[in-house]
Parts: sequence; C-alpha cells; structure tokens
Amino acid sequence: MKVLDKLSYNQKLKLLMGKDCWHTEDLDGQLYSVTVSDGPLGLRTPTLKGDHFEDQPSVAYPSMQIVSQSWDRDLTYRLGCALANDAIDKNVDVLLAPGLNIKRSPHCGRSFEYLSEDPLVAGTLGKQYVLGLQDNCVGATLKHYCCNNAENSRMWLSAEVDDRTLREIYLRAFEIACEAKPMAVMCSYNVVNGVRMAQHKKLFTLLRKELHFDNGLIMSDWGAVTDAAAAVRAGLDLIMPYSDKCETQLETAYEQGELSDEQIDECAERVVEFVEKCQKAKEVRKVTMTVEDRRAIARQVEEEGIVLLKNNGVLPLKSTASISLGGNFANNYINGGGSSSVVPSQPPVTLLKALTDILPQGHVSYRDLWEYGVSEAPLLQIENAYGKDAAIVCVGLHDCEGFDRATARLPQSQEQIIKETAQKNPNTVVVLYCGAPVDMSEWIEDVAAVVWAGYPGEMGNLAVADVLTGKVNPSGKLTETFPFTEFDYPACSCYSDSTVSVYSDGLLVGYRYHTTAAHKGLKNALPLPRFPFGYGLSYSSFTYSNAKANVSADGVAVTFEIENNSDIDGTEIAQLYVHEVNPRVFRPFMELGGWERKTIPAHKKVAVSTLLPMSAFSYYSAATDKRLVEGGEYEIYIGASSADTPLCVKVSLPRK
Ligand code: BGC
Repeated sequence: MKVLDKLSYNQKLKLLMGKDCWHTEDLDGQLYSVTVSDGPLGLRTPTLKGDHFEDQPSVAYPSMQIVSQSWDRDLTYRLGCALANDAIDKNVDVLLAPGLNIKRSPHCGRSFEYLSEDPLVAGTLGKQYVLGLQDNCVGATLKHYCCNNAENSRMWLSAEVDDRTLREIYLRAFEIACEAKPMAVMCSYNVVNGVRMAQHKKLFTLLRKELHFDNGLIMSDWGAVTDAAAAVRAGLDLIMPYSDKCETQLETAYEQGELSDEQIDECAERVVEFVEKCQKAKEVRKVTMTVEDRRAIARQVEEEGIVLLKNNGVLPLKSTASISLGGNFANNYINGGGSSSVVPSQPPVTLLKALTDILPQGHVSYRDLWEYGVSEAPLLQIENAYGKDAAIVCVGLHDCEGFDRATARLPQSQEQIIKETAQKNPNTVVVLYCGAPVDMSEWIEDVAAVVWAGYPGEMGNLAVADVLTGKVNPSGKLTETFPFTEFDYPACSCYSDSTVSVYSDGLLVGYRYHTTAAHKGLKNALPLPRFPFGYGLSYSSFTYSNAKANVSADGVAVTFEIENNSDIDGTEIAQLYVHEVNPRVFRPFMELGGWERKTIPAHKKVAVSTLLPMSAFSYYSAATDKRLVEGGEYEIYIGASSADTPLCVKVSLPRK
C-alpha cells in the first residue's frame, strides 16, 4: 500500500507545510523528516540553542559572481561536491541553492548570490552546481522562481514582463539547470504579471511541462504564501516554513470544499516522493572530501573568479615591493548579508595576513583609513602611501538580501580615500569587495589598477594576494556588465514604483543592449559600458586566429586558435556569440552561444574547438509558442569579451 493511501486528508494537509523552519512534517514519526538549509555560498545551519537560533560554522566560499567569473564548469561542479560534503557533515538533506535570478540592475542587493546577467552562463553553471550536489546525494533547490530581480518591495512587487522575455531571459537559466533534475525549485516572493508567484499556476505548469522540471517539488520562499489554498490549487507542493495561519487557511478551505481531494493528493504525492528520495539518499551518502579539500576549492574559486579590471603595469607587484595597505576591508571579513551569510569554518584569511606572509618582512605597512562598523568617516592616515612601490586600497560595500543599494557608488569617504591615496602614490591599486558592479566614475582615472574580488569567503584573500603578486595569473572574466555610471543600464529608465516594475527593457539586458545599441544604432543610446560582459585582463596577452565552422545536424562545430604571446602561462576564456544576419523578428545583435576556457603555455598556440548546439541559434517565438531556429545566414563572433571579437565565421543554416 502506498504511503499516501494510509493517510487521512488532515494528515495530507499537514504534509503540505513544513514542520518548523527547516524540516518537513514527519506525522509523528511515520515519515522521514527532510532537513533543508541555506546556501549558496556555504552552508548556513541555524541550530536552536535555548530560545534562539545560532548558525553553525561551515566553509565560506566566494560569492556567486566570483564562481561564474571563472566560467569553469568543472570547478563549479566540484564546488557543488564540496557543498554536498558540508551538508552531509551537518545532516542536511537539501541545500536551498543555487540562485538563478538574472542580474538586471547593479542596484540589486542580492546580486552576490546570483550568477550572471546571461541565462546561458547562469543556467550552465547552475546545472553544474546542482550535479555536484546531487551526485553526492544532497538535493539542490533552484531559486527564486522567478523574476526576483530586485529586493526592495520584493514581497509585493509585480514584475510586468512579456512572454518572450520571460522565456528567453528570466526562465531560460531555470530551464537549462532543470536538465540536472534538481530535487526542488523555490518560488520567489514577488508577483509576476499581477499574480503572486506562490500561486502562479501558469508558471508552475510551464515549469513542470515545458521547462522539464518533471518530478521535483516546488516549495515556497520563507513566508511567501499569503493564501495557502490558492497556492496548493496552483500546484505549490510545500509551504515553508510552518505557519499556523496557513494551516488554518488549508483546513478551512478543505472543509468548505475550496480544495479538492485531487488537488491535495497531487501535491502531497510529490511531497512524499521528495521525502522518500531524501531518505534513500541519506542511506547511501558519505563524506568524500576533507574540510581542507573544500577550503582548497574555496581558494581555487577565488583564484579563477577574480577579475583584473584595470592595470597600467603596476601589477603584478615585484617580489621585493614595499606597499602601503589601507582600508579596513584589508583586515576584516566582508561578506554579503541575509539568509546566505555563513559563519566561516575557520578565522577568514585577511589580505593583510596573506600579503604579509608573501612579501619580505616589514614591506607591508597597514593603516585602517576609516573606522570599520563605527562610522564611515575617513581617518586619512594616507601619508603612509608616500614613497612605497604601490599603495593598495581595499574598499567595498556590504550588499544584503532584503534591500537594494541606494547607490552603486562607494561611500563618499572611501572615494575620498582612493583619490587622496592616488595623489600620494601613482601606483595606487584598488581592491573592490562587493557583490555587484560599482560606479567608479569618480576615481577610476586616478588609479593604476583595479581588482574585483567580490566577497572572497574564508580563503579568498590568499588568492587575491596571489593575483596581486603574480603567483596566480588572473583569468576571470565578467559575467555581468559594469555600466559607465550607476544609471547607465537599460532597466534604469523602465517604469517602476513600489508595486510594479515594468520590464520594458525586454530582451536587452546587459550586453544584449550594449551590442545592439552599438551595431543597430538605437536612439539616445546609453554610453558604452565601463567594462563589458566577458571582459577581464590577464598578465598574458592572447591573439585569436583561423576560425572555421562546420554545420551538422547536432549544431555548428567551430574551431579557432589562440596564441599566448607572453612569457608566462595564462588562461583565456574565449567566448562565441551568435548573430542572425537578417532576422524576421527582432533579435538582440548578438547572444552568447558558448565558451571555452583554455590554459595556454607561454608563447604557445592552441587549437580550440567547440560545438554550438542548435539551441544557441534559437529564439522563443511568441507567435507559435515554441523555440525556433530560423534557416538562413548567421555570423559567429569569437573573442575575448562581448566588445572584443576579432574573429567572425559565417554559416548558413538550412531553411525548413
Ligand atoms: C530567502 C531564501 C532563503 C529562505 C530561508 C528567504 O528569505 O529569500 O533564499 O532560502 O529565506 O532562509
């Protein structure tokens, strides 16, 4: 007899809601109780201590934009494996991660939890993260489905978005990650086109039927359900966390016939399946990595994900360099706030410690420059920067879930510190610790170098020091556009108020906008970005040559060569963008179709080959409600970023 058949409807109703904040209902021991815990940048396991919850320490990995800036599929998979090991240590069955929301604005307070502005990058790396977790028998949860692209008013803001934009931009990352068969999807708090996501039957049905989330469980975000019966009728399986208000709503709706037996069974059955899958997984899963292995992955993610944004030659520092190190972020742990904030497994390595260990004794002299956590008033002990080989200034922003940034500029005090340091030392290097792009207009021209460190987690400053001193040759490339100023991004001029946000930027998010504006000549175009999508410097220089393409039924096979013209080994992330020459419907000028990450020895040339699947040429046709690949001419641009594509090959796809 199936578990469900043994249960009364009151018991089934109970199953549709958590038992508490972090567990599913066990019906007095009749069922296994699944434990869920937050990610994505480490495991956050709040544990009841007396009358309050305390988070247990766990490895703190770098923020998610750093993960994606590595563009490294294998490393992201291994990050998933490491996180699974963290979860197994703490008896956690399902991680509430990864976050796949698209970065539509540099003001979004939660960008540090998300991967990219581009759905192919977010989806592909999200999929790898899921596979890493689930291959180690820990479930993954894709979140926040969908269009949670801002934090202010996230409980009621309606994202007003057309079908094609939804499919091609905001749902596409979920669709790709669903190929890994994630155990769960978490719906977002917000409203989409007037319907609260927790009760969005249309988008739940689409998720299951068209995005291939075939047999997983849909859970709510914490406290996202306002009408529990409507949520169950829409197909939301699990309301989280337990709430007596929702319990009463469900019971009353059932008694009054507003919830049918079938509707309850449908969701309860998926909860039982989810519970059984977790119970089976628990029986076989085991720890396969030491904590040191996981910390090594945390360090490698930062090594590969740091982006060197500007360098006039001051970096890498010489091994004998004397430096002044300023700014409290050099001597403090800085991370993003909210449900993803992790208590590190060991005292995090600071940049001060990491550089002091590398450079000769006495060569690093440190000053606070402003009072951390007390006030942002500069202390201005900048004389320290005089006469040193380089002055490193560590600045940043505390981004946090629940709030969007009021500004994407650094606090005035930090801008002042950067400028004054630059006046004292022409070799001023800015290290940026924050979760999303920063408006650098006020100071970028004054400084010699800028290193984008994101939130590096507990090990990442070792990697930052290695990049500064050249032990690691930087290879990370941006997975989101850095606008020229904080207002120069397409969504900035779209209508929004405290209840609605109109996505009239449509498909033109990030580089899709900028490349279209540059090539198609949009009226009143925004200035070119400060740093384009796909951009990142290296201590090596690369040249691209000899592109060829061959069309087959599987897609388009592209080959080309990259030469490392420098004296040191380096890694290049080559990107391939697809452009339809004479489209019948509007298409962004170019869209990422694939990428290859290659380590190339000094003065060597390597051959690169990649297969662009037919989906790379497709678009969602709202008229036929299908993804279509039009026959005709396409150009494939190949290069180092969305704004630097030295190679182009033409292909012709057959007309059907
Ligand atoms: C967040 C989710 C998180 C949940 C549980 C919510 O506020 O939006 O991402 O998983 O809390 O902590």
